[in-house]
Amino acid sequence: MKKKTENRVIIFDTTLRDGEQCPGASMGLREKLEVARQLARLNVDIIEAGFPIASPGDFAGVQAVAKEIKGPRIAGLARCVPRDIETCAEAVAPAGDRARIHVFLATSAIHRQYKLKKAKEEIIKQSVKGVKLARKHVRDVQFSPEDASRTEPDFLAEVCKAAIDAGATTINIPDTVGYAVPDEFGGLIAYLFEHIPELADVTVHVHCHNDLGLAVANSLAAVKNGARGIECTINGLGERAGNCSLEEVVMAMRTRADAYGLWTDIRTRELYRTSRLVSQLTGMVVQRNKAIVGANAFAHEAGIHQDGILKERTTYEIMRPEDVGITGTELVLGKHSGRHAFANHLQKLGFKLSAKELETAYRNFVDLADKKKNIYDDDLVAIAQEIMRDLPSVFTLDYLHVSAGTGTVPTATVRLKRGDRVIQDAACGDGPVDAALKTIDRIAGVQGRLLDYSLQAITKDKDAMGEVSLRVDFNKGHLVSGKASSTDIVEASAKAYLNCVNRFLVEDRAGTRKRTPRRK
Ligand code: KIV
Ligand code: ZN
Repeated sequence: MKKKTENRVIIFDTTLRDGEQCPGASMGLREKLEVARQLARLNVDIIEAGFPIASPGDFAGVQAVAKEIKGPRIAGLARCVPRDIETCAEAVAPAGDRARIHVFLATSAIHRQYKLKKAKEEIIKQSVKGVKLARKHVRDVQFSPEDASRTEPDFLAEVCKAAIDAGATTINIPDTVGYAVPDEFGGLIAYLFEHIPELADVTVHVHCHNDLGLAVANSLAAVKNGARGIECTINGLGERAGNCSLEEVVMAMRTRADAYGLWTDIRTRELYRTSRLVSQLTGMVVQRNKAIVGANAFAHEAGIHQDGILKERTTYEIMRPEDVGITGTELVLGKHSGRHAFANHLQKLGFKLSAKELETAYRNFVDLADKKKNIYDDDLVAIAQEIMRDLPSVFTLDYLHVSAGTGTVPTATVRLKRGDRVIQDAACGDGPVDAALKTIDRIAGVQGRLLDYSLQAITKDKDAMGEVSLRVDFNKGHLVSGKASSTDIVEASAKAYLNCVNRFLVEDRAGTRKRTPRRK
């Protein structure tokens, strides 16, 4: 396909903003930076790094990304009010001329009447004022009429035109509640192009939510009708049912270039690694049958399919796994591999660890190689990501012993360290995991309710490491998630739970639990 400039679709990644708004998926500063570095490797055009007014942590995250990440533009979100816009301007400033302020204001009748209690004229006035103020700080200003898909089209056109006249350089059309269907949403974009001649001078993005499972389809309908930017997240992470999934929409345009004639600059071979990283750092598990990056996405179980694939790959495979960075279970290192080979391999996998972290990672690798014959890329990814996770360590696991089996009462003895103090206790449970988690609760003086528990094997073989992902509710509403891996699944469960306990204790003490400001 000849890549014409007018057919290039901008990829605006909002994993660190809308994705991070997903309950239980919050990330610390180091984790955000790690995701941002990987997004830069993936070659996204714009990283929306956060909502700076939302919390000091969000502000610091946006500022750190703006300082460190080179390449993509760095955007921050702001409601259409001076305090938000000024705070956002300060946070994105280190990105220099790659800084973007993204202002939004709801425009639909339902939001005007019940949330904002504002007439149409006031909405236009506030949008214009907000865009003008943002333009005083940066050249690159994006305006989003929130709930655009449920806004009267003529009024939507009026607001967008006013925002462009005020200086907006990108107009983003959000399907905030995931209500749109593809024909209608594509039609809305065509309508806006028809009724706002000025739209041809700015970039038009769309931002689709997945409440009806149509976020990707709606985004494709929009680009078919002239939009040239798609806002999306890795693994489709986001509030409620999530956002448009980056990997799906990018691979749809790539695989069906014949149907769309569009292209992006995404390095698709980085997709799988990015997906794993985000899943690991947020604790949000990717479902096995998820398109593009799920464990089953390229697994052909049925005999008739396997036979076809062996004869000619394209009989049943529309994309090659290697195109999205799935290299298979490649044997990489063994027990006798030295530090140098280990460090080189981690570097090749894209990890940037300090010397101290590298040493810890190497020790963990040697321990693993003692227990497990073959070490694969995915094992190394798990080791590196576990070390990189920005985890508060109030308590660390010092010792764990469980006894369980048919006819015995499952019992756990746990020893935790808190600074120099060693605390030991024991409890029974209805299984070894329950017993271990209950003992941790007793020692830490907390009571967590397990909302989700999932266990996935990182690689194949019986000796594979198990990766446990948890979501825990402390104090009725303080949600945290955690992940850990080990060849012993009870140990992985205890470590993942301890990560949650530590995060809860730190957030609770500091009062830093993030609450998204009300959208008004
Ligand atoms: O879904 C939405 O409307 C948003 C806006 C802030 C763009 O996230
Ligand atoms: Zn959104």
